Amino acid sequence: MKSELDKIIKLLGSIDQKLQLFTDDSEMEGNDENQEKSWSNTSTEIASLEKKLEQSRSRLLHAGKMSSLGSLTAGIAHELNNPLTWVKSNLQIIETKYMDRLQKFVGVVEKVISSEDLESLDEVRQILTGALNNYKIKYIVEDMRDMSVENQEGVEKMKKIVSGIKSFARNEDEDIGECSLVDAVESALTIGYNQVKYVAEIIKEYDDPSPSCMGSSSKLSQVFLNLIVNAAQSMQLEKNKDPEMRGKLWLRVKSNDEKVIVEIEDNGTGVSKRIRNKIYLPFFTTKKSDAGTGLGLHIAKQIISEHQGTINLVDKKGKGAKFVIGLPVIE
Ligand SMILES: Nc1ncnc2c1ncn2[C@@H]1O[C@H](COP(=O)(O)OP(=O)(O)O)[C@@H](O)[C@H]1O
Ligand SMILES: [Mg+2]
Repeated sequence: MKSELDKIIKLLGSIDQKLQLFTDDSEMEGNDENQEKSWSNTSTEIASLEKKLEQSRSRLLHAGKMSSLGSLTAGIAHELNNPLTWVKSNLQIIETKYMDRLQKFVGVVEKVISSEDLESLDEVRQILTGALNNYKIKYIVEDMRDMSVENQEGVEKMKKIVSGIKSFARNEDEDIGECSLVDAVESALTIGYNQVKYVAEIIKEYDDPSPSCMGSSSKLSQVFLNLIVNAAQSMQLEKNKDPEMRGKLWLRVKSNDEKVIVEIEDNGTGVSKRIRNKIYLPFFTTKKSDAGTGLGLHIAKQIISEHQGTINLVDKKGKGAKFVIGLPVIE
């Protein structure tokens, strides 16, 4: 991230130099032909520098995305580990305990079938009932059915997390198209979930079917993740002051004739009037260095502008912050 910034700063420096030359040239007296050549050279160089700047900016966005993914890795691993642990433990019980008993029961049944010296049906019944009870077969079958449902749920959970990460980390260039805003919010939530779940109840209000817009769903997910993490951090601050405080995170996706609207609202500290006009500035942060880089909202604003959208912090009566994002509907 730092090297990207160094590059951008260098580029800005050389653009500044070129502009200086350009101004100096224009002030110099001399023949028109030379001046025209010099202008044309300078403007080609400026165009090339602008292109480089654009490339660096886009690399910076990607680096920002990967860095937020990196800082949330431990939480994601934890979320994956939960279902993994219970699926593994279920499979272990089936393999080490239940399979053995079922095999033994099958052995008894086979013995009964092939036996020639059983005298009555009653005796057969007695042996089979004894084996059923002895090996707790009914209980095993019922428990295995429950375990199978649990395992299915666990695998679905893991699948959702993995596909959330995949769609978040996707290369933006391949990712432009119609994107479902509910999917983009959900993918962000999957990645930030571990940050939120201990501090807040999540309230989802999604229009069905999900509103869509044109753009990059992985970049939009990056915006939503930045807002969700900010909300979680702010509610955590409130919780530090008052452990009884019940955090609430509202995620809304709706649309009208002109706009798709995504709202991310919390009941955390709120943003004081004093800093409201600074929050989108690069590197502006009120957090300790390990919690914030001050790039989250800056990057969010850039991405939303690229999508011809708007992002606004809405004044909330009472406590908390509410960010409202408007994006153009697909014509
Ligand atoms: N939901 C929120 N609640 C309270 N303050 C917020 C919220 N979102 C952003 N802020 C304020 O805006 C600042 C800038 O946010 P951001 O650009 O994401 O940087 P960072 O989170 O790294 O500090 C934060 O440091 C914080 O003061
Ligand atoms: Mg942030």
